[in-house]
Amino acid sequence: MTTIVITGASRGIGRELASQYAAQGARVIGTCRTQDAADALKAELGSDAVTTPILDVSDGASVSAFASALGDTPIDVLINNAGVLGDQFSFGNMDYDAWTNAFAINTLGPMRVTEALAGNLVEGAKVITISSQMGSLLRDTQGSYPYRSTKAAVNKVVQLMAHDLKPRSITCITMHPGWVQTDMGGPSASITPEESASGIRNVIDGLTLAQTGSFIQWNGETHPW
Ligand SMILES: NC(=O)c1ccc[n+]([C@@H]2O[C@H](COP(=O)([O-])OP(=O)(O)OC[C@H]3O[C@@H](n4cnc5c(N)ncnc54)[C@H](OP(=O)(O)O)[C@@H]3O)[C@@H](O)[C@H]2O)c1
Repeated sequence: MTTIVITGASRGIGRELASQYAAQGARVIGTCRTQDAADALKAELGSDAVTTPILDVSDGASVSAFASALGDTPIDVLINNAGVLGDQFSFGNMDYDAWTNAFAINTLGPMRVTEALAGNLVEGAKVITISSQMGSLLRDTQGSYPYRSTKAAVNKVVQLMAHDLKPRSITCITMHPGWVQTDMGGPSASITPEESASGIRNVIDGLTLAQTGSFIQWNGETHPW
C-alpha cells in the first residue's frame, strides 16, 4: 500500500488531496494543527488507513515529535502543502514579525519536514512542495511581499534539496496548484480543490527522476521560474 504524508490536511487543497488519496486506497497520513481538526478529518475520511497526527511545520519540536511518532514508517510520497498567505503589507508599512512567521511556515517548513522524514523516504520516493506562481521571478508584479518572497525562496530550497536526494532516486519538485477556491484562494478562484488535487495527483503519478528539481503546474505544464 502506498503511504502518502500530506501536511496542512485540515482544509483546502491538503484536505482534498487526503480525501482523494484515501478514496484511491492509499495509506494517508494527513497532518493538522489542532486535535479538533484532526478528529474532524479522520471522521470525514473514515478509513483505518488514514491517520491525522498533529503538526505545526514552523515548530522544530513539533516536527521532531511528528517524525518520532512515525518511527520507521516507509513513505512513498511526501506533500509539503501547509502554507499561509500572510498579511498583505505595503511598502513603508511592513510587519516583520508576520513576514518572519510566513517564512518559517512557507520556506523553512517544507525543509524541516523533509529533513526530519528523510530517513523514512523509500528509494524512488517523491517529495512535492506546494509553492505558487506568485513566487515566480519572471512575474513582474507588485505587493504581497511575504507570500511572494517565501514562495520564491522555497522554490530555490526545492532545487537544492533535489540535488541532495537524487543519489537515493528521490524526486523533488515544486508545484503551482492553480488558483484554487479555498480559504486562501477565495471564491473567485479559477478552479475547485477537486480539480487542483486531481491534477496534482496526475502529476505525481507520472513523475520521474528526470524531472527532479523542476517547477510544475497542477495541469502538468512546466512553470517558468
Ligand atoms: N488556493 C490557492 O489559490 C493557492 C495558489 C497557489 C498556491 N497555494 C498553496 O497551496 C497550499 C495550500 O493552500 P490552500 O489554498 O489549501 O490554503 P488554506 O485553505 O488556507 O489551507 C492552508 C492549510 O495549511 C495549514 N497550515 C497553515 N500554517 C500551518 C503550520 N504552521 N503548520 C501546519 N499546517 C499549517 C492550515 O492549517 P489550519 O487549518 O490549522 O490553519 C491548512 O490546513 C499552500 O502552500 C498555498 O500557499 C494555494
